[in-house]
Formats: sequence, structure tokens, C-alpha cells
Amino acid sequence: MAPGIRIAPSILAADFTRLGEQIAEVEAAGADQIHIDVMDGRFVPNITMGPLVVQAARRATRLPLDVHLMIVEPERHIPAFVEVGANIISVHVETCPHLHRTVQQIREAGASPSVVLNPHSPAVLVQEILPFVDMVLVMTVNPGFGGQAFIPETLPKIRELRRLSATLNPTLHIQVDGGIDPHTAPQVVAHGANVLVAGTSIFGAESGIGAAMAALRSAAGQ
Ligand code: DX5
Ligand code: ZN
Repeated sequence: MAPGIRIAPSILAADFTRLGEQIAEVEAAGADQIHIDVMDGRFVPNITMGPLVVQAARRATRLPLDVHLMIVEPERHIPAFVEVGANIISVHVETCPHLHRTVQQIREAGASPSVVLNPHSPAVLVQEILPFVDMVLVMTVNPGFGGQAFIPETLPKIRELRRLSATLNPTLHIQVDGGIDPHTAPQVVAHGANVLVAGTSIFGAESGIGAAMAALRSAAGQ
């Protein structure tokens, strides 16, 4: 049986002048983990945040910090992120020629390892690593920016990963990231995703953070 639904608000869409308050607000609204998007201007076009922001988030919440590394050579920076409080570290298969080694490095550093697939990368690329990770992140947009449109062609890959997990890793979390809102959430959950990253649809919601979190959870069927 697949693990329960988890909501991971992405602070990329938060108001950074009051980051602590925004994290407290999603926590009070029932967030399960805080998603932090690290971009280097090389693997992806945009530059965002580094360990300093993870350290600040650590002081604002006791929730797990879910750090999504969109950077080249992530192995050079994993220790720095774990030292300041990252609990889950996601690395892109497209940036890791020695993925098994990098996954081991994350676990040995004391964090939970996760691997990420860009929209064009097939499920088979992570088949052999599934027994060694706790989560697979399926990008449902091209990484680099918040507020992009969900790519529905990624749905069959989610189903394929959930099928592979039945024999290779029954407790595997499958996370989705990009364009997740009350309209797309039921689709990704129906295909086997259980960890929903959402930035714009939570922090940008006109109805407010609490109502947006409730709407997303209800749309996800939980
Ligand atoms: C995109 C990031 C996402 C982003 C999602 O590169 O990995 O985590 O914050 O933003 P929304 O939910 O606005 O699509
Ligand atoms: Zn992300």
C-alpha cells in the first residue's frame, strides 16, 4: 500500500520579507514538509537560495526540510545543506553520473535521499536506484521557475514508478513538483503520487494560505 498524502509547500513562492511567518502559517495549516528550491544558474537558468536560507528555515519550523537541488555537481554541496538542517535531499539524475554514490553520500550525511526526473527523463533511469532511496520526485514542469503550467504527459511516468515500487521499494514516496493545484492534484494522486509540492497555489492564493492548503488536501482526497 502506498504511503499517505503529504503536502510540501514550496517557499519559492513565499514572501521573503517575512519568510519565518509564512513558514509558520503553512505549518499551522497542516503542511507535512517544507520544500526548498536551490537553483544555481547553470543546471537551471535561475539562481535562488543556498544553505543560508535552509538555516533560516530550520529556525522557523520543526517540520522536515525537503531540499531540492537543481545544481550541477550536487555532491560538492550536500554536507553543507545537511549541516544546516536539511532532512530530505533530492538530486537530479541528469546531474549525477555516479548516482548510487551520491545517494549513499546523502544517507551517510544523515539525510533521506531522493532522486529527481526531469519531464523528458524516463522512469527506467531510476529503476536500479529505487531500493536505495526514500523518494522519487517527478518534475511536472521544467525546473527553474515557479508558476508554470503542469505537463500532463508526465502522468504515465508516475504510474510506472508506482508499479515499479511495488516490488523494488513498497514504502517509496513519489513526489510531484510544478503546477500542482486543486485541479491537477487529483490526477497525480490517481496515478500514484503521494507527496505534493505546491508554491503558487498555496503562497499566491487569493483565498489565503489556510484555505489553499485545505482545498489542496481535499482535492487530493485526504
Ligand atoms: C520549479 C520548482 C518548484 C516550484 C513549483 O523548478 O522545483 O518547486 O516552486 O512552483 P509552482 O507550484 O508554482 O509550480
Ligand atoms: Zn522543487
